[in-house]
Amino acid sequence: MNEIKNALTDYAESFTSSESDVLTRLREHCYANYSDSSMLSGFFQGRVLSMLSYMIRPQVVLEIGTYLGYSALCLAEGLAEGGKVITLDVQEDTNREARSAVESSSFADKIEFLLGNAVDIIPNLSETFDLVFIDADKPNYSNYYNLVFEKVRPGGFILADNVLWSGKVLADYKDVETQALHDFNRMVLADDRVENVLLPIRDGLMIVRKG
Ligand SMILES: C[S@@+](CC[C@H](N)C(=O)[O-])C[C@H]1O[C@@H](n2cnc3c(N)ncnc32)[C@H](O)[C@@H]1O
Repeated sequence: MNEIKNALTDYAESFTSSESDVLTRLREHCYANYSDSSMLSGFFQGRVLSMLSYMIRPQVVLEIGTYLGYSALCLAEGLAEGGKVITLDVQEDTNREARSAVESSSFADKIEFLLGNAVDIIPNLSETFDLVFIDADKPNYSNYYNLVFEKVRPGGFILADNVLWSGKVLADYKDVETQALHDFNRMVLADDRVENVLLPIRDGLMIVRKG
């Protein structure tokens, strides 16, 4: 079963448009130098994020969890004229790398970096968001959803990565992170202010549309 799934994933990737050279360089740099490289969205999900951004044409995107800036660059591709991505992260060293990757791209003036704990930063943001991408510490996913909700415009979207958590959401015993993601999925489904789809690509991508 897994063999077929892997072969189909390879097939889907081979029939998906290529990414920019900047993104390929960043991804390869990450895989070669970072032990936690699985945190990066990766080629296929990157193309999905880019495509969703092009479909929404957001004026303002909020990303929670910058890492090396890969997904911020993907999301920036679909921005409306004059739009921006605000990306938050607490980690200084990866943030330096992310800034330098973005500097070498054509999105340097479209991506704004904020360093610190997202839980403290979000309440102070005054922007209205067309699109939010939640991709940071799992125990805070529900907090992030609640913190951003009123700042998302009606008709806007919230995406959340890793909501299948390598399949661990199915297990009877759930560790803290798995339980937090399962609780997040249940909270979204029960929220009558939104419609949602849990897309089983990569590690699970939740797509939420605010009514
Ligand atoms: C999975 S990585 C983000 C990957 C990135 N979105 C991508 O696809 O390329 C998660 C990031 O969240 C950051 N993070 C964890 N806890 C955080 C917090 N409380 N506030 C802000 N960032 C946090 C980590 O430092 C890490 O860089």
